[in-house]
Amino acid sequence: MTDIDIKKGLAGVTVDYTAVSKVNPDTNSLLYRGYPVQELAATQPFEAVAYLLWHGELPTAQQLAELRATERRYRALTDEVKQAIDLLPLGAHPMDEVRTAASVIGAADLAGIDNVMDAVGTPEENLQRSIRLFAALPAVVAYGQRRRRGQELVVARDDLNYAENFLWMTFGEDVDEVVVDAFNTSMILYAEHSFNASTFTARVIASTLSDLYSAVVGAIGALKGPLHGGANEAVLHIFDEIGDAWNVNSWLDEALAAKRKIMGFGHRVYKRGDSRVPTMKAALDRLVDHYDRPDVRALYSALENEFVSRKGIYPNLDYPSGPAYNLMGFDTLTFTPLFVAARITGWTAHIMEQQASNALIRPLSAYNGPDERHIEGYVPDAANA
Ligand code: SDX
Repeated sequence: MTDIDIKKGLAGVTVDYTAVSKVNPDTNSLLYRGYPVQELAATQPFEAVAYLLWHGELPTAQQLAELRATERRYRALTDEVKQAIDLLPLGAHPMDEVRTAASVIGAADLAGIDNVMDAVGTPEENLQRSIRLFAALPAVVAYGQRRRRGQELVVARDDLNYAENFLWMTFGEDVDEVVVDAFNTSMILYAEHSFNASTFTARVIASTLSDLYSAVVGAIGALKGPLHGGANEAVLHIFDEIGDAWNVNSWLDEALAAKRKIMGFGHRVYKRGDSRVPTMKAALDRLVDHYDRPDVRALYSALENEFVSRKGIYPNLDYPSGPAYNLMGFDTLTFTPLFVAARITGWTAHIMEQQASNALIRPLSAYNGPDERHIEGYVPDAANA
């Protein structure tokens, strides 16, 4: 076997340029179109960050107003999407609901395009498709949680901005500013992260000149995995297993002996901590104080301190996000769909970037199967004749 340098998982492989974001593990930093994500999270509504990712610049007041007006037009859960979700079993995973909804929205929007060459769309059409998904997903996620709880759909309110309306449709009541701010922060932090697995999936699909909706459906499938977006849900399952802070050491003894991956820790790119964690941790702390839940802080800190000291592996964004979403009132199964609602902005920015400077993504493989052989040597035995 000749020596071939296989890069399993494409670890450490740079496959293309992107101007959308810069992840720098050496400085532990993350820039969205040049802006530090911490500054964006501290000062911007999520709609402005969506605009930045799509257009490369922060919006003027007029441009933000126009985006908000368009986003309000697409907020409502359409009958076809609601019917599609209602056809799914109540026990279907919410990520399967969201994946189905994205597929139905795409099928409806592309209906009548009977030439596959035309489905890819123009840059303007794809920007509108991006805004449409950005606007429609909150109602899908909110309805999914309410449906599972046996609650009625809550209709969107045009007097609320994106984050406030998302929370309104989910809980059917006004929520405190500290919750809105924490939620807005989480959406900005989750929005974009260069060539992560789900974004790269979207770019692979876009590189075949398939349509934006197909690329998003593929990305949702990739994000569901617990090694990727599904980790924020898995963090809460771990917290439920541990129960209280004083159980952490014994729980970790067993988990590490069983060689379990501790969800919410580690990262393929960041090796000494995820640049987004301090900002999300500060938002979590504000929620802990707001809801007077020192037990959450005790458990969160105990597991982090013990695991970092034992393995030198640091938390990623999913670690503070899980307990934060739990305190906000979201069901654990709703966590990764929230990640979808945020990352739709990064995914669509990358899809449009891929389309603007495309090359079919098709890597090589090294064959290690049987040497060439021929069919005349094959004689099925009587059993399978
Ligand atoms: C996200 O790429 C992105 O940008 C993703 C993301 C984004 O914004 O899009 O940041 C979002 O997906 C964050 C990651 C969420 N996933 C998890 O929290 C799942 C748990 N984490 C691990 O599975 C792991 O850390 C990965 C998958 C995230 C990264 O793993 P790598 O880079 O492939 O490294 P590895 O799995 O080969 O680990 C190296 C060593 C191994 O030990 P050995 O087998 O060499 O002895 O570190 C160990 C691993 O076992 N290790 C862990 C661990 N993470 C790494 N051991 C226990 N628990 C962990 N969490």
